[in-house]
Amino acid sequence: MTFPFDITATEGRARTGVLKTARGDIRTPAFMPVGTAATVKAMTVDQVAETGADILLGNTYHLMLRPGPERMQRLGGLHEFMRWDKPILTDSGGFQVMSLSGISKMSEEAVTFSSHIDGSKHVLSPERSIEIQADRLGSDIVMQLDECVSWPAEEARARSAMELSARWGARSKAAFGTRDTQALFGIQQGSTFEHLRRESAERLIDIGFDGYAIGGLAVGEGHHAMCEVLDFAPAMLPADRPRYLMGVGKPIDLVEAVWRGVDMFDCVLPTRAGRHGQAWTWDGPINLKNARFAEDRDPLDPDVPCPASRDYSRAYLHHLVRADEILGKVLLSWHNIAFFQALTAAMRAAVAEGRFEAFRRDFHARHRSNGS
Ligand code: GUN
Repeated sequence: MTFPFDITATEGRARTGVLKTARGDIRTPAFMPVGTAATVKAMTVDQVAETGADILLGNTYHLMLRPGPERMQRLGGLHEFMRWDKPILTDSGGFQVMSLSGISKMSEEAVTFSSHIDGSKHVLSPERSIEIQADRLGSDIVMQLDECVSWPAEEARARSAMELSARWGARSKAAFGTRDTQALFGIQQGSTFEHLRRESAERLIDIGFDGYAIGGLAVGEGHHAMCEVLDFAPAMLPADRPRYLMGVGKPIDLVEAVWRGVDMFDCVLPTRAGRHGQAWTWDGPINLKNARFAEDRDPLDPDVPCPASRDYSRAYLHHLVRADEILGKVLLSWHNIAFFQALTAAMRAAVAEGRFEAFRRDFHARHRSNGS
């Protein structure tokens, strides 16, 4: 079934709406916390839900290696396993193979790789990725297997990955078929080349997906080059379907991508930064390790509706980070996820009220990208 996507307001290219899935509504623009290994690191699912997250992301690559897809199915699927009953989107595995596994080999048929955990050999085809995501894990939004090239990429290299991704998109669609309560998203590739992005979009639209992702960005090109691609890439994808920018990003990337027509995001940044003592705020990132917080009795942000943001002093967080206490990682991950949810909520309200342009200007005026 194609999930209904109600776009309730637009401003320029920016949109806000609701993607209605069998497991609940996803308010867009949406930020999906990353729950790679069936956990949003250092957080309980109840904490994650309290921040306002409507959907989590899981990873085929990690879960197929551990605990394994067949075991996961025997245990009732990913939702039951991790006690999250709202929607889950799973990434297909190809991207994580490239970034995490040992030696990997791409062929027309499949990607063969060795596990980063124990070196064991595995094969992932478009069909097997669909089977793991849709049938074993029980994902609500399934991603096609794709090939992502790093940046910079020669045009011929970017073209071959884009074409392989399109052929894998067609095989993914055939394997997925039509399902009552699950959706399948295609992934646009083409690096920074406009004509390759266009051809990719056309081929995906021809196949027909429930939603469309923009892949192959945030791979080293930088904020400015990414924005240049976002000046044309989202508009190539169907206006009436959700557009998902994969693996992005910093708050400033989210604001600029929403301005250019993107609806969904995922990134490890809030949780990873939190584990390293970094907190994201409307003024930009700050590092709680910094001595200037040693006697700072203010909370991180009294307006973010989260205990970690509101109820603990920066001095206490500074102490926890300096002492390498587990609670420091917990509280900063929690605050960062809550901040990203507050950011997307603010963007949804701004588009709904026709003041996103002013919101974007105010965001830039306040935001310092270099934390200390
Ligand atoms: N995560 C971040 N970028 C990508 C991409 O291009 N493809 C996939 N499958 N996942 C991603």
